[in-house]
Amino acid sequence: MFSEITGMTSCRTLSNGVKMPCVGFGTWQTPSGDVARDSVKKALEVGYRHIDTAAAYYNEESVGEGIRLSGVRREEIFITTKHWTSDRGFKQTVSAAEKSLKALGLDYLDLYLIHWPAVKKFSAAWAEINAETWRGFEKLYKDGKVRAIGVSNFLPEHLETLRARADIMPMVDQIEFHPGYIQKDAVDYCRRNEILVEAWSPLGCGRLLADPLVGRIAAAHGKSPAQTCVRYAMQHDVVPLPKSVHDERIAANAAVFDFELTDDEMNELDGMPKTGFSGYHPEDAPAG
Ligand code: A2P
Repeated sequence: MFSEITGMTSCRTLSNGVKMPCVGFGTWQTPSGDVARDSVKKALEVGYRHIDTAAAYYNEESVGEGIRLSGVRREEIFITTKHWTSDRGFKQTVSAAEKSLKALGLDYLDLYLIHWPAVKKFSAAWAEINAETWRGFEKLYKDGKVRAIGVSNFLPEHLETLRARADIMPMVDQIEFHPGYIQKDAVDYCRRNEILVEAWSPLGCGRLLADPLVGRIAAAHGKSPAQTCVRYAMQHDVVPLPKSVHDERIAANAAVFDFELTDDEMNELDGMPKTGFSGYHPEDAPAG
């Protein structure tokens, strides 16, 4: 419920009862080494309790280091990583998760996601490939290696096809979501099926920060365009994952609990013309 979201430790509840802090810290395009380590540490120091990475970001080791250096207790942090397309299949999935756990220096994950669906453009067996990968996810979940399992960049067709072959439905779908790209069909599907939506690139990869409409609405609240975008996702009951490697921005992107966008402002942002994609469209995702 949005009314219960009052600060960085406020949580959304996944379909299996696991709690996820309402804003996560994104690390896509954050270089490994000092930058990833220090920005993750900073994020935890200023109150983030949810960190999002991926095997394909090549920064898991540094993210893990930042987590340890922060001194925040493991069980207070919600940590997500993602499985890459080259590790599709049951056995490969289980070993990929083990590799990520080792890189992060953890003994369990809070959330593990399939990064991209296999799609029919690249393989006639796409549905079976996703189902086999998912079987690995279900094993990791049943074995207690991950507290929740989900997908990323899955459109309703991919989710519906997976549902016919899965024992456990994904608890999360992480998709690109921001004003100008709200993927209404995917969000509606997830809502109907108790799948929590996370927003990657909630700032449109930074592109929205110069948008005149976002700027006008931000100014009306005395907030920045970035804060307005983070707030916009939250008011849609979506979990935003803003990324920054700058201390002041990391802190500012979390200062989103002292204002509320009006219904009219939300409608205006909903109606923004498409601002394009920030990454691949799922149907063009890497084949692995
Ligand atoms: P940087 O990491 O140099 O701060 P998204 O989360 O939508 O992918 O957007 C991330 C992009 O937006 C990055 O280029 C990031 O750059 C930039 N960014 C993040 N927060 C802010 C902010 N508060 N003000 C300006 N740019 C920001």
